[in-house]
Amino acid sequence: MINLLLVWVVLLREALSSFAAVVTNPVLASNRTFDYIILGGGLAGLTVANRLSENCTISVLVIEAGQDNRDDPRIYDIYQYGSTHGTSLEWSYPSNGGVIRGGRTLGGSSSVNGAIWTRGTKQQYDAWSQLLDPIDASVGWNWDGLLSYMKKAESFSAPTSQQRAKGADYVASCHGSRGPVNVAFPNLMYGGPQQSYFASVMVKFGLAKNPDLNGGTPNCVSFPPLSLNKNDGDHRSSSATAYLSPVESTRTNWMTLVGQQVTKIIFNPSTVHPRVATGVQFGTLSGARYTAFARREVIVAAGSIGSPKILQLSGIGDATALSSLGIASIVDLKTVGKNLQEQTINIMAANTTYFDVGGRGPSDAIAYPNIYQLFGTQANAMISHIQSSLPAWAASQAGSALSAGALRNIYTIQSNLIIAQNAPIAEVTFKTKNSGDKIGTNIWQLLPFSRGTVQISSSNPFDIPEIKVNFFAIDFDMATQIAAARFTRHAFQTAPLSTLSTGESLPGFTLVPDSPDHGSTANWTSWIMNNARPVAHPIATCAMMSRSLGGVVDAQLRVYDTKNVRVVDASIMPIQISAHLSSTVYGIAEKAADLIKNAQN
Ligand SMILES: Cc1cc2nc3c(=O)[nH]c(=O)nc-3n(C[C@H](O)[C@H](O)[C@H](O)COP(=O)(O)OP(=O)(O)OC[C@H]3O[C@@H](n4cnc5c(N)ncnc54)[C@H](O)[C@@H]3O)c2cc1C
Ligand SMILES: *[C@@H]1O[C@H](CO)[C@@H](O)[C@H](O)[C@H]1NC(C)=O
Ligand SMILES: *[C@@H]1O[C@H](CO)[C@@H](O)[C@H](O)[C@H]1NC(C)=O
Ligand SMILES: *[C@@H]1O[C@H](CO)[C@@H](O)[C@H](O)[C@H]1NC(C)=O
Ligand SMILES: *[C@@H]1O[C@H](CO)[C@@H](O)[C@H](O)[C@H]1NC(C)=O
Repeated sequence: MINLLLVWVVLLREALSSFAAVVTNPVLASNRTFDYIILGGGLAGLTVANRLSENCTISVLVIEAGQDNRDDPRIYDIYQYGSTHGTSLEWSYPSNGGVIRGGRTLGGSSSVNGAIWTRGTKQQYDAWSQLLDPIDASVGWNWDGLLSYMKKAESFSAPTSQQRAKGADYVASCHGSRGPVNVAFPNLMYGGPQQSYFASVMVKFGLAKNPDLNGGTPNCVSFPPLSLNKNDGDHRSSSATAYLSPVESTRTNWMTLVGQQVTKIIFNPSTVHPRVATGVQFGTLSGARYTAFARREVIVAAGSIGSPKILQLSGIGDATALSSLGIASIVDLKTVGKNLQEQTINIMAANTTYFDVGGRGPSDAIAYPNIYQLFGTQANAMISHIQSSLPAWAASQAGSALSAGALRNIYTIQSNLIIAQNAPIAEVTFKTKNSGDKIGTNIWQLLPFSRGTVQISSSNPFDIPEIKVNFFAIDFDMATQIAAARFTRHAFQTAPLSTLSTGESLPGFTLVPDSPDHGSTANWTSWIMNNARPVAHPIATCAMMSRSLGGVVDAQLRVYDTKNVRVVDASIMPIQISAHLSSTVYGIAEKAADLIKNAQN
C-alpha cells in the first residue's frame, strides 16, 4: 500500500518535472505524444501555446531553435535595441536585397524588435476577407474581428501627466487593459523640443495629429506607445515574458524545448486526402534527430522565412521543385514561399546645435503620409501610372505568385487601398540621437508591389533557403522611397524643425545635391540603391487567401489539403499593412487559438 503510494508520488513528480517550463534535453520530448506541437517559440508560437494550454487536460510542446535568453540584457534592455544584430540571437537570412533579421531566441522577433506598437488601417484588415472565398467572410478576418484579439493581447498603461506634457496621448477604446503584453510610453520619454517640432512640421505638410494611431486610422502623425513594462524599468515585453514567464511554473501540460530545430513534419503515409500529420522531426546541426508525435495538430509558427521552409522540407510546395531536391511530394502547393512582401529602410539624419533632448527615449514619433501627402502635386500622375501599369506589373511579378491573373486581382485590392482609402504608403519614424546634436528619420515604403520568394535549394534542413526580395522590381516602390526621402529633407528645412537643424548630414548635399524639388531622382535612386536594406517585416509566404488567388492556408489557417497542419504567424498575412507588425501578429495568434479550440468541440 505504502509502496504503491510511493510509486504514484514518483510518477507524478516525474510527469511534472519533465513537462514543466523550459527544457534543453531533447530526450524529454523524444518519442512522446502531445496534443499539439508548435514549431517555433516566437511571437505567435508562444501566444498560441499559452492559450491552448489554458486547458490543463491538453498537452502542448513548443520546439524553438534558439535558446532561452530572457536573462540577457541585450534581450530585456530596450535601450540595447540593435545589439543582437549579427549575433547568435538572430537569424541573418541573406537575400538578394540584403540580410533579413529575425529573432532566434525564445520570443522570436518580439525579443529583439524595436517595440513600436502600431496598427494598420481598418480597410487593410477588411481586405483580408476580400482575398478569401465569400463563404469565409463570417470567420471574421477583418478590423472588427481582429481588434478585439489585438486588445486581448494587450495591457496598456495610460500616459502620466508628465508624459502627456511631452506629447503622449491615447484613446482608451483602442487598447486592451488585461492582456499579457505590457504597452506603455517610456518612463524617460523624450521631452525636448524635437518630437513636437517634428509633429508640427507634419501638420504643416497636411497630416493630422492623431492622439492614438492604434484605432485603425494611422494616416497621421502620432506618438505611439511601445511594448515595454513601465513598472519594470522599461524592460521589453516580449511573447516570452508576456505569455510564458507568468505561467511556466504552473502549466505542467506545456513543455518548451529550446535549442532544437524542426527539420520536417511527418505525415501518415496511408492517408492521401486530406493529408494527416502525425508528428515532427527535430535536431541540431551536429546532433541526433528525434521524433515527437502529435495527437491532434501540428502548428507551424517559425516566421515568414522559417515556416515556408519547414513546409517545403516536409513535401508541401511545388512538387516539381521539391522532387528535384529528392523530396517526395505530400501536397503539391506551388505558392508555398511565394508572394513575399518585404519593405526597404533608409536612414537619414541632420546635425543640430546642442539642445536638451529631455529624456532617454526610445524615440516614439511617427508620420504615416498617404499618396496625396507624399507625392503632393505629382500624386495624380502617380495614380494614373499605377492604374495603367497593374497588368504589366502583375505579368512581371507572376513568377513570385500563383499567376499574373491572381496577382492582378490582389494588386487591384492593394491599389484601391492606396488610391481610394488613403492607406499610408510610407513610414517616417523620427529619431532622436541621444547626444543632442543630431536628429534623423528612418524611412520606408510600406506597401510594395514587388514580390519575392523563399525557396529551399537543398534537402538539408540546416541550409539557408534562397530568398529573393526583389526590391524595386516595380518602379512605384522606388518612387515612394524617393518621395519619403524628399519629404524628410523638406521637413528638416521647415520650421520649427529647421531651427534645430544645422544641415542634413545623411545622405547630405554632397551625395544627393539639393534642388528645388529636394534632390534629383537620379541622385536619390543611386543613394537608395546603395543603402536600402530590409526592414525585417517579411510576410505572405504562407498567405491566407483563396486557392484561386494562390493561398497556402484557408480561413481556419489550415494548409490546403491537410487535415491538421496550420500556420500561425506573420507569414499568413496576405498583403502589407501600414504599420509595424507585432500587435497584428499577436491578434492573429490570439484569434487562431480560439479557432483551434473551437475545432476541438
Ligand atoms: C529587428 C526587428 C525589428 C522589429 N521592430 C518591430 C517594432 O518596432 N515593432 C513591431 O511591432 N514589430 C517589429 N518587428 C516585427 C515583429 O517583431 C515580427 O513581425 C513578429 O515578431 C513576427 O512574429 P512571428 O511569430 O511571425 O515570427 P518570430 O517572432 O520571428 O518567431 C519565429 C520563431 O521561430 C523560430 N524558428 C524558425 N525556424 C525554426 C525551426 N526550423 N525550428 C524551430 N524554431 C524555428 C525562430 O527562432 C523564432 O523564435 C521587428 C522585427 C525585427 C526582426
Ligand atoms: C525513440 O524510439 C525509437 C524507435 O523505437 C528508438 O529507436 C529510439 O532510440 C527512441 N529514442 C529515444 C531518445 O528514446
Ligand atoms: C478541455 O479539453 C477537454 C479535452 O478536449 C474538453 O473535453 C474540455 O471541454 C476542455 N475544457 C474546457 C474548459 O474547454
Ligand atoms: C555633421 O557633423 C559631422 C560631425 O561633426 C561633420 O563631420 C559633418 O560635416 C556635419 N555635416 C553637416 C552637413 O553639417
Ligand atoms: C547626381 O546626378 C547628376 C545628374 O544625373 C550626376 O551628374 C551626378 O554625378 C550625381 N551626383 C552624385 C553625387 O551622384
